[in-house]
Amino acid sequence: MSKSLQAIRGMNDILPEQTPVWRYLENTFAGLLEEYGYSEIRLPIMEFTELFARGIGEGTDVVDKEMYTFLDRNEESLTLRPEGTAGTVRAMLEHGLTGGGQVQKLWYAGPMFRYEKPQKGRYRQFHQIGVEVFNLPGPDIDAELIILTWRLWQKLGMADAVTLQLNTLGSSEARARYREALVAYLQERFEQLDEDSQRRMTTNPLRILDSKVESTQALLVGAPTLHDYLDEESIAHFEGLKARLDAVGLRYEINQKLVRGLDYYCRTAFEWVTDRLGAQGTVCGGGRYDGLVSQFGGKPTPGVGFAMGVERLVLLLETLGVVPAELKRPADVYVCAFGEPAELAALALAEKLRSAVPGIRLLLNAGAGSFKSQFKKADKSGAQFALILGDDELAARVVGFKPLRGEGEQQNIAWEALPEHLAACIQRA
Ligand code: HAM
Repeated sequence: MSKSLQAIRGMNDILPEQTPVWRYLENTFAGLLEEYGYSEIRLPIMEFTELFARGIGEGTDVVDKEMYTFLDRNEESLTLRPEGTAGTVRAMLEHGLTGGGQVQKLWYAGPMFRYEKPQKGRYRQFHQIGVEVFNLPGPDIDAELIILTWRLWQKLGMADAVTLQLNTLGSSEARARYREALVAYLQERFEQLDEDSQRRMTTNPLRILDSKVESTQALLVGAPTLHDYLDEESIAHFEGLKARLDAVGLRYEINQKLVRGLDYYCRTAFEWVTDRLGAQGTVCGGGRYDGLVSQFGGKPTPGVGFAMGVERLVLLLETLGVVPAELKRPADVYVCAFGEPAELAALALAEKLRSAVPGIRLLLNAGAGSFKSQFKKADKSGAQFALILGDDELAARVVGFKPLRGEGEQQNIAWEALPEHLAACIQRA
């Protein structure tokens, strides 16, 4: 195929055989979120570039290297959203939805865009399901969000394959003091740092903590730790969160090096990780961002949330072999018709059946064809039964009713009796 007719690198088609798993995942999660009292919000895929630059932070990989940014015809700088939190905050402010301490519990789903190096589990267009909560400052809501994701893993049958990494980043003042101490420590060892970490010394030194480079990790062994710099309130918040996770028996690992890749976090930070997907093992990440709304000019408004990567979760479901078999349920009935008059009668009958038997999965043959070819298609469709309509059946106002799987002879059924007969057969099948 010529190059111009290929999808953009890192942007994937989700083909018909894959969409049932996607829908299963999305519907399971959406159902769970509604049960916990969260409402859906749908946001634009593009925003003004400034929103992300200010929200996610200059100096982060996402803003510095990964955004799809371009000028529109009006010379405005726009960016395809790399994540959903900044846009949600923008929408809250624009519509006054967090004013007066209004609590908002929201979820969203959709494509996000980052110019990253594509590999298994990492794409340039990927999909997130995310949750954001506003105006609840305590650790109780942080715990609810984490417990809710845990419930999802249980529902999906993957709870044993993921572990929770937990950290607190403290207040922004505490983090600033820690940053200073860390930079002073690393400055003395600057020459031994890897190139990426050297660059981060000025842009985002805390990110050096989760460097994948072994020699850098070795250098960090004696480094000051964030927890020594925490403020009292953040410590109390973290204790409150842990107590709630303990209360439901949710196990976690404290990871002091977990700092997350976006700048807006304070206090709680968490990631769910798996070792089953290779390098891209984080399936869900989030945390608290109490300063973000005011950073955008709003009144101080606590916020907390997370987002999960749908591609990674689909991969994990498949790797673990826990995709429910019944997702690919075939049709119930395939209707064959021979000749124009029978085709017209079959069409009318099919529409009546769709009304009379709610939920029936009925395929009506299209494109005419011989007995042989229509039966072949009926068989291939996986349907339980074929309905057959030719001139003789038309004259007698019956259909030939033929079981396609297992036992049973073909018999004629009167048109009037068909809905009841079909409903009973489908239920038994
Ligand atoms: P994030 O950690 O950047 O957080 O992304 C969340 C999840 O999206 C990741 O854990 C991963 O599963 C998935 N993901 C990220 N990048 C890619 C990619 N290139 N390909 C495939 N999957 C990817 C956020 O985006 C925050 N907005 C989450 C949040 C919401 N924090 C508070 N509220």
